[in-house]
Amino acid sequence: MIEYRNVKKSYGGKQIIKGVDLTVEKGEFVVLIGPSGCGKTTTLKMLNRLIEPSEGSIWINGADHREMDLVKLRTSIGYVIQQIGLFPNMTVEENIAVVPRIMKWEKKKTLDRVKELLNMVNMPYNEYGRKYPKQLSGGQQQRIGVLRALAVNPPVILMDEPFGALDPITREILQSEVKKIQRELKITILFVTHDMQEAMKMADRIVFMDQGRVLQQAPPKEMLLHPANETVARFIALQGIGSRTDRITAADLMQQASGLAAGEDSVTVEAEEEVKEICQKYDLSKYRRICVKDSQGLLIGEITVGSLLEHLTEWM
Ligand SMILES: Nc1ncnc2c1ncn2[C@@H]1O[C@H](COP(=O)(O)OP(=O)(O)OP(=O)(O)O)[C@@H](O)[C@H]1O
Ligand SMILES: [Mg+2]
Repeated sequence: MIEYRNVKKSYGGKQIIKGVDLTVEKGEFVVLIGPSGCGKTTTLKMLNRLIEPSEGSIWINGADHREMDLVKLRTSIGYVIQQIGLFPNMTVEENIAVVPRIMKWEKKKTLDRVKELLNMVNMPYNEYGRKYPKQLSGGQQQRIGVLRALAVNPPVILMDEPFGALDPITREILQSEVKKIQRELKITILFVTHDMQEAMKMADRIVFMDQGRVLQQAPPKEMLLHPANETVARFIALQGIGSRTDRITAADLMQQASGLAAGEDSVTVEAEEEVKEICQKYDLSKYRRICVKDSQGLLIGEITVGSLLEHLTEWM
């Protein structure tokens, strides 16, 4: 439903987006990831025309987005900007109601919606509706930023590092909330982060950008297994398979079995070998099973590569 066709952006002769092709299906959760300055925010902002592409085109439901009415375009795309961006002189209620007001919703309908949204994130209207952003914690402010984007049920939402600078627990709660809302309402989300663990958790598909180009797009597990090149591989290795897998060994994960035989579809590792090392040592995309041997070399169990991947994405 959203299609970037060879989109480029230059500033003063310097090309910073170098031809992005990207298709996002309805209801899909797509995460843009990549190092700082690679062009994630610019790619996002070109969709709602906060930035105009220099070349190429963007299509939404079969229409060139430059030919759509700008107000309609903007109100059909919720936007959570990098760094929260609540209006400091407006209450929580007024902040959430910004787009309903632009769309001239009736007062009652708007109020009901504000209450409904606040309930969704356990911030009841009576307690929080009249507060100002500075009276809220950072996590609460980010919740309101997300609610503001949801207010009129837009089919598409752009989220630019919406959970940056949050403590890990609040971050995890908000990630789950957004994922749940997205699934229930089948919203299409384009989400920017530079945190691979967040991408793994949230994405149906990850789009990896570097220096204004898309290097790879793939579902999380596939990117983990088949990074397209060194840059992607290094990014994943550096922050991906993290400290939570320290000291988890093959023996911890294996299913015990007797009468096993190694084959072309398997690698054989020692029971004490750490999972982290196994992932780094072997190209697991080539195998289906990991056979586990004891110190005498006797096969004592196996791990399917599929179940290992399940664990890896859980640990991320
Ligand atoms: N208005 C502008 N004029 C000139 N250069 C710009 C402008 N906006 C962005 N850039 C440059 O374009 C590149 C991409 O910027 P962008 O904000 O899209 O990166 P990003 O991937 O979102 O980075 P971050 O992770 O730090 O938010 C950067 O090198 C930036 O300096
Ligand atoms: Mg950015």
